[in-house]
Amino acid sequence: MNNNFSLLGRNLYDLDDFTEEEIINILEVSKVMKEINSREYKKLPTLKGKTICTLFVENSTRTRMSFELAANRLSADVVTFEATTSSLQKGESLQDTVTTLNAMGIDLYVIRHSCAGSPQIVNKHSGKPVMNAGDGRHAHPTQALLDMYSIYEKTGTIKGMKIAIVGDIVNSRVVRSNLIGMIKLGAEVTVCGPRTLVPSHLEEVYGCKVTYDLKTALKDADAVMGLRMQLERQTEGLFPSLEEYSKHYVLSKQTIKWAKKDALVMHPGPMNRGVEILPELADSSQSIILEQVSNGVAVRMALLFLILGGRF
Ligand code: CP
Repeated sequence: MNNNFSLLGRNLYDLDDFTEEEIINILEVSKVMKEINSREYKKLPTLKGKTICTLFVENSTRTRMSFELAANRLSADVVTFEATTSSLQKGESLQDTVTTLNAMGIDLYVIRHSCAGSPQIVNKHSGKPVMNAGDGRHAHPTQALLDMYSIYEKTGTIKGMKIAIVGDIVNSRVVRSNLIGMIKLGAEVTVCGPRTLVPSHLEEVYGCKVTYDLKTALKDADAVMGLRMQLERQTEGLFPSLEEYSKHYVLSKQTIKWAKKDALVMHPGPMNRGVEILPELADSSQSIILEQVSNGVAVRMALLFLILGGRF
């Protein structure tokens, strides 16, 4: 780990703002945070006096809870903005919400919102560092970092890894951030799904491979990630039925045999069990899905620590 490494005051909108070296350093600091998380006394005093606001205007379990836990572990104060019981319901704008919260002395915002670009709006009206916890279909950089950390921890590298990402690609912010990060670190990424759920420009924009055939995608893969079928973002009838999707693309004990033996099985969650992945595989010893969740706390601790200037 580079002890002089700092991301002091930086925003985390997506991984294209970060160099390969910066991403590796984030993964290395995450390793230290994971070790701290394994201790009986898990808390560091380093962010005492800092106040973090989690501003979730879209639903979340993993991201929000792990950010709050990460902030608590670093001894920061955390205020949780509850969108459903807030004055947003009375028509208050995001701008006025942010300037109001800012007047209370927030040091860093974590935002999830259905609109792409909302983290930039929060930064514009607060002047404080903002971490994107998922903005529309655009980006989910902390999920990508924890996904990369989960592979890095198991294999010691991302470089040269063959990674298959399967599912609802067009609606996925997770896939976009992962493509930027994984390819920057030298992985060979293949995305797969029905033609209607895979944007045509991905190869040119990101440098990944694209296939519509699951067996081709999984061939020789070191890690296979299923993506959730985002039913709430499906408005155009892009596939006939969930049964039809599952018939061709489900990850199961049978289909995972097309990947390398002991390939890592991943999913960002939440899962539609029986649609994109069968329980027999999701709950198997090959699956690292719950480790991804645990790693989410360590990775978010590392990011808060680095952005808010924590010290060991
Ligand atoms: N992976 C993920 O973002 O999960 P949540 O929606 O539960 O935060």
